[in-house]
Amino acid sequence: MNKNFVLKAEKITKEFYHPEKIAVLKEISLEIKPNESVAITGVSGSGKSTLLQILATLEESTSGSIYFYGNLIRPSMISEIRNKKFGFVFQSSNLLEEESLLENVLLKAKIARRPTFKGSQAYEEALALINQVGLSHRVKFPVKYLSGGEKQRAAIARAFMNNPDLILADEPTGNLDKYSKEQVETILLTSCQKFNKSLIVVTHDNNFLKLVETKLQLEKGILLPCNSC
Ligand SMILES: Nc1ncnc2c1ncn2[C@@H]1O[C@H](COP(=O)(O)OP(=O)(O)O)[C@@H](O)[C@H]1O
Ligand SMILES: [Mg+2]
Repeated sequence: MNKNFVLKAEKITKEFYHPEKIAVLKEISLEIKPNESVAITGVSGSGKSTLLQILATLEESTSGSIYFYGNLIRPSMISEIRNKKFGFVFQSSNLLEEESLLENVLLKAKIARRPTFKGSQAYEEALALINQVGLSHRVKFPVKYLSGGEKQRAAIARAFMNNPDLILADEPTGNLDKYSKEQVETILLTSCQKFNKSLIVVTHDNNFLKLVETKLQLEKGILLPCNSC
């Protein structure tokens, strides 16, 4: 098995059975190299989120295998991979509204059982990531006071905590205005480049697609190179 790929998906199939049987993903195979950015596009309902959730180990496929650096991801490895190897950014930021920006970013380190006291490695890492996304002036602010774009930037900082290998993002700019969209896209891509992360991003945004290395389209359950992107 090739260890040169951060993630390799082999013949991923997903069917839903309720209220009736639908085949959403049909034997999808995909390889992601270190530092590669991959965009997945496709019409609403084509299965992009389902595919991303499966690649992220957040949902089970009906059949198929996923390998992380050549190792088959087994159920016993999932929590370690989710907490330490992957970072997630969703359409809504899923932050704890009452907690501060810093606490939210540190939470991922706490879940990975890292010390997070002031001055600890994780604490310094969180501050550096918050600075990277341009929010140093909001460190102590409860997340509920942040704007939509700021929340997505906070979610990006959280995704990069614990130095993951792969960032998975599902329409991270879907709810933002044009200006915030561009800002969040730039921050996500430049952060991946700066910290040498691979990126899989689901997006409809043509400007964003142009900036990403590999463009794929999900159509009728099959993933193909996107010729029109
Ligand atoms: N839990 C589920 N049960 C049944 N059908 C589902 C479920 N989740 C998603 N679907 C269906 O699978 C298809 C793909 O959904 P989704 O992956 O969310 O698409 P996209 O992200 O491309 O808009 C849709 O037709 C949706 O209705
Ligand atoms: Mg979706």
